[in-house]
Amino acid sequence: MARNALQEWFSDGRPATIAGHILRLHEHAALPGTPLLVQRGQAVVAFLQADDQTEWVLKKFVPGRQPDLTYLQSVSKVLPNLPAFRSATQRILLDEHALTSGSGCYCSRALRDGLRGALLQPRQPGNNWTSLADEIRDGKIRMDASVRLRLCRQLTEAVDVMEAAGAAHRDLSGGNVLIDWLLWQLGLIDFDSVYHTSLAMPDGTTAGTEGYCAPFVFSGGVADSRRSWCPCADRYALAILNVEFLLMDGSSSCAEDGGLFPQEQLRTRHGLRIDEVRGQLKRQFPSAVWLFDSAIHASAFLDCPSTGDWTRFCNQADQAMPCPISIGGMGDGVGDQIRSILLRRRLVGIG
Ligand SMILES: Nc1ncnc2c1ncn2[C@@H]1O[C@H](COP(=O)(O)OP(=O)(O)O)[C@@H](O)[C@H]1O
Ligand SMILES: [Mg+2]
Repeated sequence: MARNALQEWFSDGRPATIAGHILRLHEHAALPGTPLLVQRGQAVVAFLQADDQTEWVLKKFVPGRQPDLTYLQSVSKVLPNLPAFRSATQRILLDEHALTSGSGCYCSRALRDGLRGALLQPRQPGNNWTSLADEIRDGKIRMDASVRLRLCRQLTEAVDVMEAAGAAHRDLSGGNVLIDWLLWQLGLIDFDSVYHTSLAMPDGTTAGTEGYCAPFVFSGGVADSRRSWCPCADRYALAILNVEFLLMDGSSSCAEDGGLFPQEQLRTRHGLRIDEVRGQLKRQFPSAVWLFDSAIHASAFLDCPSTGDWTRFCNQADQAMPCPISIGGMGDGVGDQIRSILLRRRLVGIG
């Protein structure tokens, strides 16, 4: 399909009934008259809204990159039911019967054929970490230490829950971590390379994303996907992403896939960026230095810090943070004064 069938549907103006949901494509804000589409590596992604206002995403793999349908179907079933995994556990693998005709609804052969093998998934709120990191570099978004630790905790929990279920995402990276930066809530997407003890490795699966691949998955300079088809395969990328959450700021440089590290430095285990990050960690989160070093110098996923190691670090770092002062705890009427100022401001806002 992809683009042509979606463009024709968008131009028609009517919603389409797909897997029982009445859906409309969102318009591209900067290109009126065209649907909002994203294409990264292996798929075209369209953003949709249902008539009950729920938000959806349609992922259509490009020719030659379609994963095995039985494998895709199984992935949704083996993952635990965590809100952070909604895009996988509640996704629908579409077939040629997914598009149904109905009064007032759009239907075409091109769209029907194109939907086969596509995934209809709930839209995970927020932006991916790569684009959020750009906003942080530009100074448009600021994160304090408690938010940084909150993100580390949530990603660590997601990996921990997957490990306990015998699964690994296998492509944790800036583009596949979504963050709602109003609530600082983290979710994962792109569950199309998942490892599970019960699944056979599908053809064409990749080893991960540049900037997040462990050095020991490389063989002769090329990433070998078989080397990350194993339990605990997320531990290296977990360390890289957690360090990015802890340190990303206005002075951070930008590597190839939007993260902190050029893949070549990760592969060879040394380079300027690695040294700079170690120095920054020493100053800002000294108890995370050994976690970073064990990941960088690991020879296997089991050498990388475990989810328990990261949880202990977060607990310790949380305790080391200064406690916020509560208004109630202030003496001599200071609390009352602040409370009345806040109340006045809020009333002005409402009026
Ligand atoms: N469920 C989802 N919710 C919100 N955005 C999504 C979702 N799935 C994909 N996207 C957006 O589309 C981009 C590409 O999707 P992804 O599944 O990662 O494709 P690829 O396999 O090509 O990397 C993501 O980085 C994200 O911005
Ligand atoms: Mg992706």
